[in-house]
Amino acid sequence: MGRLEGRVALVTGAARGIGLAAAERLACEGATVVATDVDAEAGRAAADRIGATFLRHDVADEAQWQAVVAAVRERHGALHAVVNNAGIEGDPEAAKDPEHAPLADWNRIFAVNAGGVFLGCKHTIPLLAQSGGGSIVNVASVATLVPTPFITAYGAAKSAVVHLTQSVALHCAQAGHRIRCNSVHPGQVNTPMLQGLFARFAAQAGVSAEAFGENFRQTIPLGAYQEPADIAAAILFLVSDESRYVTGQALAVDGGYALAH
Ligand SMILES: NC(=O)c1ccc[n+]([C@@H]2O[C@H](COP(=O)([O-])OP(=O)(O)OC[C@H]3O[C@@H](n4cnc5c(N)ncnc54)[C@H](O)[C@@H]3O)[C@@H](O)[C@H]2O)c1
Repeated sequence: MGRLEGRVALVTGAARGIGLAAAERLACEGATVVATDVDAEAGRAAADRIGATFLRHDVADEAQWQAVVAAVRERHGALHAVVNNAGIEGDPEAAKDPEHAPLADWNRIFAVNAGGVFLGCKHTIPLLAQSGGGSIVNVASVATLVPTPFITAYGAAKSAVVHLTQSVALHCAQAGHRIRCNSVHPGQVNTPMLQGLFARFAAQAGVSAEAFGENFRQTIPLGAYQEPADIAAAILFLVSDESRYVTGQALAVDGGYALAH
């Protein structure tokens, strides 16, 4: 019997990368998974493959959150786990340092990476509470643990998620909701997001993507990039009852990167 039999779980940004791995892992453990993403085509195909249901959903849009939660309530009658995973690095053409970053890019990154997580907590807490409690896992980043002037808004928005997570955890505990809320902090995970970022950094440095990737790998104390399944395993722990007294915590899955930087 799986660790999540009888549970309903919602995973955002589940069309690919970490979100897809998390959705798949939760489904393998017996959860009924609702996968959402802005990319409907890839999201639907991924959800079909792992036996999840799919809803198109922009996490930065409050009305869409209301519609998603209403659909989960109608179809499944309950919700026990939420993985606020959807995130963006922003406009690849825009400057990211604090001296030159355009406000529009800052605002969009905050709307998705911080606002989307806020809305995800706000709109799922009532259904989680009515379902007898549950677990919210917010996907932040190692960027909250080290300064990141090359991705300023991203690091700042992810840092907001840490504080939000603690506030949600304490609010839910004090309200007697039996809802836990924690954050997971991936380091460098082999996904389309990291590949895009590294391709740009390599071009800026005038080296090949392979050379850049190999140099960077050597700065990770455990000597390897993480795979999406590594982050999914941490998410599963925080969703499952094995972490039933863990709330308001930040769990880094970064191969020791933050320790060394
Ligand atoms: N890959 C890494 O190294 C890494 C490191 C630290 C943190 N993270 C975080 O992990 C999460 C997943 O990252 P990933 O590497 O799998 O990224 P990815 O770009 O490979 O996948 C992100 C998914 O989110 C979806 N998405 C984007 N904007 C959305 C929106 N507004 N509403 C709904 N869905 C949206 C995309 O369509 C895509 O399917 C993100 O929050 C990211 O910031 C990733």
